[in-house]
Amino acid sequence: MSLKDKIALEALPKCVAIIMDGNGRWAQQRGEERVFGHQNGVESVRAVTEASAELGIENLILYAFSTENWNRPTEEIDALMELMLQAIEDETPTLMKNNIRFETIGDIEKLNKKNIEAIIRVKEKTKNNSRMTLIIALSYSSRWEIIEATKKIAKMVKDDEISINDIDEKLFSNSLCTAPYPDPDLLIRTSGEYRLSNFLLFQLSYSELYFTPTLWPDFRKEDYYKAIVDYQHRERRFGKTKEQFNK
Ligand code: IPE
Ligand code: IPE
Ligand code: MG
Repeated sequence: MSLKDKIALEALPKCVAIIMDGNGRWAQQRGEERVFGHQNGVESVRAVTEASAELGIENLILYAFSTENWNRPTEEIDALMELMLQAIEDETPTLMKNNIRFETIGDIEKLNKKNIEAIIRVKEKTKNNSRMTLIIALSYSSRWEIIEATKKIAKMVKDDEISINDIDEKLFSNSLCTAPYPDPDLLIRTSGEYRLSNFLLFQLSYSELYFTPTLWPDFRKEDYYKAIVDYQHRERRFGKTKEQFNK
C-alpha cells in the first residue's frame, strides 16, 4: 500500500514549503561534481510538483537559490542558472498540461537577462492556470524580503498613505513577496540539516517542521507522502491549550 492512501484529503496543507538541500553531497557520494546533484534534483522537483497537484495542494514553495548562494564558486552558479533555464523551458508544457501557475519570490533582477526573460515568459504563459501555484524562491532570503517590506512600509508612512498605527501583522504580511499566498502549513527540509537558512522567517511562525536525512535528488513521491502523513498527525494549537482545540 502506498503512503498516499494514508493521506486525509480533507486535511491537506494549503501551502507546503521545501528547502531542497543535499544536491552537492549526493553527487560527491558518487564521485561526481556538485552540478551532477543539481541535475538530478530536477527530477525531484518534478515529482513533488506532480504529487502536490495530484493531491490537491494549492501552493508549493521551493527554495532553489538563496541570496547567500551567490557566494558559491562562479562555475557552480553558472551551471545552476543554465540548469534553471533548461528546466523552465522543458517543463512549461507540463505546467500548462497540469494547469499549474508558475511564480517566483526573490530578487530575480540579480539573475542574467536570459533567465529573467524565461521567467517572465513562463509566468505570463501560466498566469491563468488555477489548479496549483508553484512558487520558486530564487535569489531569495528572508532578511532581504523583510528589509524590502520595511522600506515599502516606511515609504507609505512618509508619503502619508498610512499612519504608523496602521502597521500591523496583516499589513506587514501583505508587504512581503509571499503576500498572495497563505503561510506554509508544512515546511520540509531534506539532507539532515536542522536550520532555516534564511527562508520565510516571518511566514514559518506556526508551520509544522519536518526534517529528513534523505538528500534532495533521492526525494520522491513516497518521501513526500510520508512527510504529509506525519504532518497530519501533528496537533496545531497556535498558542491555545489542548482542551480549547479539542472542543
Ligand atoms: C541544494 O543543495 C541546492 C542549492 C542550495 C542550490 P546543495 O548544493 O546545498 O547541496 P549540499 O548541501 O552542499 O549537499
Ligand atoms: C539552503 O541551502 C538554500 C537552498 C536550498 C536553496 P544551503 O545549502 O544554501 O544552506 P546552508 O548553507 O547549508 O545553510
Ligand atoms: Mg546545502
